[in-house]
Amino acid sequence: MTEDEARKRLKELAMEIRIADSQYYQDDAPILTDAEYDALRKENTALENEFPHLIRKDSPSRSVGAKPSGKFGKISHIVPMLSLDNAFTDKDVEDFTARIKRFLSLSEDTVLAFTAEPKIDGLSAALRYENGKLVSGATRGDGQTGEDVTANLRTVSNIPLVLSGSDWPITLEIRGEVYIDHQDFEAMNENQEAAGKDAYKNPRNAAAGSLRQIDPSVTANRPLKFFAYTWGDISAPLSETQMGAVNAMASWGFDTNPLMKVHQSPAEMIAHYHEIEEMRANLGYDIDGVVYKVNDLSLQERLGFVSRAPRWAIAHKFPAEKAITIVKDIEIQVGRTGSLTPVAKLEPITVGGVVVSNATLHNEDEIERLGVKPGDTVEIQRAGDVIPQVLRVTKDGQQPPFIYPVTCPVCSAPAMNDTDPKSGRVDVVKRCTNGLNCPAQAIESLIHFVSRRAYDIDGMGSKQIETFYEKGLVKEPADIFTLETRNKDIKLETWEGWGATSSENLFDAINARRSIAFDRFLYALGIRHIGQGNAGLLAKHYLNWDKFYNAIKSIDVIGGNEWAELMSIDGVGEGAASAIKSFFHSPDNQTIVDNLLTYVTVIDAEAPTSDSPVAGKTVVFTGKLERFSRDEAKAKAQALGAKVSGSVSAKTDILIAGPGAGSKLKKASELGIKTLTEDEWLNFIQS
Ligand code: IVH
Repeated sequence: MTEDEARKRLKELAMEIRIADSQYYQDDAPILTDAEYDALRKENTALENEFPHLIRKDSPSRSVGAKPSGKFGKISHIVPMLSLDNAFTDKDVEDFTARIKRFLSLSEDTVLAFTAEPKIDGLSAALRYENGKLVSGATRGDGQTGEDVTANLRTVSNIPLVLSGSDWPITLEIRGEVYIDHQDFEAMNENQEAAGKDAYKNPRNAAAGSLRQIDPSVTANRPLKFFAYTWGDISAPLSETQMGAVNAMASWGFDTNPLMKVHQSPAEMIAHYHEIEEMRANLGYDIDGVVYKVNDLSLQERLGFVSRAPRWAIAHKFPAEKAITIVKDIEIQVGRTGSLTPVAKLEPITVGGVVVSNATLHNEDEIERLGVKPGDTVEIQRAGDVIPQVLRVTKDGQQPPFIYPVTCPVCSAPAMNDTDPKSGRVDVVKRCTNGLNCPAQAIESLIHFVSRRAYDIDGMGSKQIETFYEKGLVKEPADIFTLETRNKDIKLETWEGWGATSSENLFDAINARRSIAFDRFLYALGIRHIGQGNAGLLAKHYLNWDKFYNAIKSIDVIGGNEWAELMSIDGVGEGAASAIKSFFHSPDNQTIVDNLLTYVTVIDAEAPTSDSPVAGKTVVFTGKLERFSRDEAKAKAQALGAKVSGSVSAKTDILIAGPGAGSKLKKASELGIKTLTEDEWLNFIQS
């Protein structure tokens, strides 16, 4: 077939398949038999494989003929999808570049190249290509596991289904941002309104809603676009530099951002930031800052990551948007850990395209500092996804002052300010003292328990938890796991808003979580100061739940062995350690955990699989290091599976001592611990 014939035939096929699809899906009256339909699709695929440059924007291979499945499968990210740390000021940017040089042990005047590019305000997606063909696509999800939205991503017009060129790695995962531009957004909202539906709040929400459509033919009609800016799992390096890698992506057919540039100094980076800021209103798509990345990929590799963000990149955010409105009332919300948070209920106002009707007032001191009362006119600001803040009172509403409660507004128990036992400092936050006996704390804890980064139970969100709690059906996490056996009395399928399918789906989702990873389990308990980062560190250290649980329960004195072990974990501070101890020493909490453990199994964390000689070993660095900064040495040891501790104890396996080592070296030799110089250590880890 000639190219012209192929072009013509592809056009016909696109039309025939589209008509067949719409008959099948929308009218439920197929004109073609399944075999005839499959033959058309096969012919289309064969022609596209032969003439990849002729693939049409509306190609049927961009929308799949699969029936909507009702929900998305999961895709686990081989390389986690991380977030970025933020910089707000020029000084933050200078600190960022200085921090990197320190980590790499480079002198302050070393010239280091960084890329700068717009931070697109959309949602990130990962596209997996095998042998140059798009095989799957996922959302970011919690960074470890995302949703399988392959069918939807295939419909995005500027996502190549087949890569151009031939120098791409066999396995190539491209990551970037899915977004909707301003012009398309307006048209889309006009259509929504014409159809009597609610308009989308902003392009980001519209893009998110469009990507998560159950029926890919709906997504196909949404004007989604994609900018490629990074990569995940790859079978070969893309380039030696960030800029080179992005240029390679462009050569394979991806849209990359035209404003990306390489700079040699913070001053240049900041100048570029201001240029982009000036262009912001006329770019035609939403951006919320500029991302800087170390250009040299071998340096990125050395820099690595801290918890959920790379050390080698930062997002320089644009200043927050501000507005003036009236405080109608001040409400006190009670959080998962009992904290009382005052919230200003506002006369709704649009700030940067989003309607704001609540702003946080943080705590009692903040109300006093602002002098804010119901009835006052205030200036508020909203920055990205951050909860809006009240900046100042602009006009006194002449109402009586707000009296801060001394009891919990939900359960009436006394609300108290904690005192730090060490410093004697009184915490600014008042907390309800009723623990999980307070309905607000119980409900918030349960909501946290089922949330995405914790148990991640599909179909169980804050609304469902509240209902189950109010009906007395779920009072503690264990109750979630007995819902199904109690359902002959509960009859969830007869409740308003529920049916046979949705209740079955819920029980399936619950049953799928009867075994759970150690770190998720720990995080789900909602202990103060134990976020995902600390939960991960603890799981990696103790590996086995029972071992951890028993060790913590047997902490008797601060300073004993179990306490020392907890405190020796690099990254776990004293606040987190005390919170863990006091949580697991409460008999009420123990009962809650033990009840839960009768229904769920906690999966051991993986022991470091690395075959490095230091995997699983506890190492301590002391004295001056000459080849690497202390931070890089620590990070390298951790990457090899070692545990880095700050103090020498009987559990220490290796002490790496540089010049000037003192008391730690002395203690190590008293305890007979293996001691290495920096060079010996380097030889050892390379062996
Ligand atoms: S790089 C390992 N570059 O911002 C770092 N991210 O706040 C990978 N984003 O999750 C991210 N524009 O969804 C990078 N030019 C850009 C970006 C960008 C938008 C998003 C991305 C990420 C989030 C972090």
